[in-house]
Amino acid sequence: MFVISNAAQLIYVGPGKFSRRGSEMGRLDVIQDGAIVVSDGVIHWVGRTSDLPPIPPDTEIIDARGKVVLPGFIDSHTHLVFAGSREDEFEQRLKGRTYEEIAAGGGGINATVQQVRRASKEELKAATRRRLQRLLSFGVTTVEIKSGYGLTLADELKCLQVIAELNQEGPWELVPTFLGAHAVPPEFQGNREGYLRLVVDEMLPEVGRGRLAEFCDVFCERGAFTPEESERILKRAYELGMKAKVHADEFSSSGGAELAARWRAVSADHLLCITDAGIAALARSDTVPTLLPGTAFFLGLNYAPARRLIEAGLPVALASDCNPGTCPSENLTLIGTLACTQMKMLPAEVVTALTLNAAAALDRSQRLGSIEVGKQADLIVCDVPDYRQLFYHFGVSHVWRVIKRGRVVYTA
Ligand code: NIG
Ligand code: FE
Repeated sequence: MFVISNAAQLIYVGPGKFSRRGSEMGRLDVIQDGAIVVSDGVIHWVGRTSDLPPIPPDTEIIDARGKVVLPGFIDSHTHLVFAGSREDEFEQRLKGRTYEEIAAGGGGINATVQQVRRASKEELKAATRRRLQRLLSFGVTTVEIKSGYGLTLADELKCLQVIAELNQEGPWELVPTFLGAHAVPPEFQGNREGYLRLVVDEMLPEVGRGRLAEFCDVFCERGAFTPEESERILKRAYELGMKAKVHADEFSSSGGAELAARWRAVSADHLLCITDAGIAALARSDTVPTLLPGTAFFLGLNYAPARRLIEAGLPVALASDCNPGTCPSENLTLIGTLACTQMKMLPAEVVTALTLNAAAALDRSQRLGSIEVGKQADLIVCDVPDYRQLFYHFGVSHVWRVIKRGRVVYTA
């Protein structure tokens, strides 16, 4: 058992809801001079320090005077298992080539695929562990990770095994997603059907057998996979017990949001080019729109219409998209700053989007994403007196302690 006491602000993001939609996103629940009692990895009591129940004399106390306590951040969309880097493409884009032109010329995702195929499982594991440690230093306690840079059966399994082993290792909690439909690899150029069959008939069943992925994602986009191809893949994934996610409307209005809603995907991600019809489809669904403004920032694109999604009553989540091509950064609070300055989200909405709504984007909001009695004790203590400073004083980490399942796992 331990106690956190005297928090200048305890942001508990609750209670009793599994996501916060529309105008509810900005109504943050704050307790001044807040305290939490944690026992057996679970939150047992939340309230004001002056109202704390009697505590056994030898109980460990974390004094959060002058600090802000929040639920651990959740990064619900990353591509963390990769080898190498793509600073050459970064420079080409600065000279005027677009991301899609570079990808069509054999760069982009397929450039990283070559490096991942050459890397051993141990090399990938070491590189991914370093990225997870960096995420932890920004207060991220739960991380979704996609495969999608292997694109052969053996290499996709290698990447998913890296995720499974690092999840065992902890202290983070990892959520594995299979993204075989990330790109058509070079050996299948001119034979899309061949690659689709490999994904549907060989990769998905093997991933299902090994229970290596909770979600199946598809990159539904011009130059990647059409809505029809995406449906074939999601249908097979469902039959094998996986839930759906969709990379939707990232570079073009490809019908990805509508597809996600139709297939009851848990989330539809990116949405830079979402149409009014796409917003209406999401508003009639339980799919969580997940915005990744680091990608728009890094590629110099127009941002997703966060305000319109919130006005439509949707439960917007935010994530990093951390990957070597379109967002090489683990700084999730900087993503929050971009959401504020570029998409006009308010700091309170950003906190909701990085905690409870991000948990909903991973189908985990019954257990994670808010500070409520009975929920898992995933908490961060930040060395700022007001939560808005997390996004206002940008580019650095303000995290002082990270607690995962009731244990202090990171100290600044
Ligand atoms: O989410 N859009 C597809 N996948 C990544 C980019 C991956 C890459 O360029 O390596 C994304 O932006
Ligand atoms: Fe992505």
